[in-house]
Amino acid sequence: MIETELEALNFHDAPKMVSPEFPGTKAAAALTQSARTESMVRGGGRMPVVMDRAFGVTFKDPDGNTFIDLSAGVGVSSVGRCHPKVVAAIREQSESLMHAMEVNHLLNTPYTAADDVAAVIVEPVPGEGGYVPPSPEFLQLLRKACDRSGALLIVDEVQAGAGRTGKMWSVEHSGVKPDMLTFGKGVGGDVPMAGLVMRSDLAAKIPDGSAPNTFAANSVSAAVALTNIGILEDPALDLLNRAHTLGLEAQERIRDFGSPFVGEVRGRGLMIGIELVEDKATKEPLQGERLGKLMGYLTSHGVLMIPCGRYTNVMRVMPSLTIPRKLMFKALDIFGEGLSRL
Ligand SMILES: Cc1ncc(COP(=O)(O)O)c(C=O)c1O
Repeated sequence: MIETELEALNFHDAPKMVSPEFPGTKAAAALTQSARTESMVRGGGRMPVVMDRAFGVTFKDPDGNTFIDLSAGVGVSSVGRCHPKVVAAIREQSESLMHAMEVNHLLNTPYTAADDVAAVIVEPVPGEGGYVPPSPEFLQLLRKACDRSGALLIVDEVQAGAGRTGKMWSVEHSGVKPDMLTFGKGVGGDVPMAGLVMRSDLAAKIPDGSAPNTFAANSVSAAVALTNIGILEDPALDLLNRAHTLGLEAQERIRDFGSPFVGEVRGRGLMIGIELVEDKATKEPLQGERLGKLMGYLTSHGVLMIPCGRYTNVMRVMPSLTIPRKLMFKALDIFGEGLSRL
């Protein structure tokens, strides 16, 4: 029942390639144009994929090709793109108010002694670093070290947060309570939203009006964030537990491909990293040429995945939490087929 509901929030024909060549003529023209005009601060890497219209975990390019997106815009679309409830929240809020004025021993390093450290900031599950979940003990040790020296423990939940790992915040897997927590991406989804929450006694120390911000308190972003959180916490959908079980099944499917190029398959919930290697024993990263071939296969067969890690050899499975099972496994099977052709 829930699967049928989730499927209805996607273009029904994904993935489907209809242009005689890929990228098609319209996408190729858009790529040429963006190469000339895009900001130099955009993320590295460029894929021949142009998004024209999006719905759920699927999107269409300007040539009419339909894709399954396993990247969710680098983990941004936690509830899928253009969710009807989100669109309604934007419509309703934008008709009343949009911008409102703001009213409101581990630590010993070659450079610092433990007592000099003001704060430690850590991603409980590193994102760009390669999707390597640490053991719970790692964060517990950091907590102890911070407590001993008086440093604050700040966790960055921008990529791993908002339910992606099967808990609302990935730090919860360790039982550790941070002093501050940053969030972004998945809380906002279709609109920009980021924030910092902290222990109330710390917040009380910040003088009123000492950290002004022009675009804080954007009402449309706030309405969308609340809608997203409502969808993530909807007991009928149970998206967080679903992320946990679907993630485990996805990891199993990937291992079952039995590819000689797959090293470690790891992650929590729908934050899965697939390490691609030349040699399972030495873990030598997959050569660029082979990675390029795989990426080409994926995009030309309607699947969007993005790599991460120091050697750009860890493929990410980080779809919206609303991804229908059917689309998840369709996309993974295309990935498996791509692997078998390397
Ligand atoms: C863990 C983490 N923190 C912070 C950021 C930066 O977020 P933003 O680009 O919204 O500033 C990212 C972006 O990928 C991230 O993955």
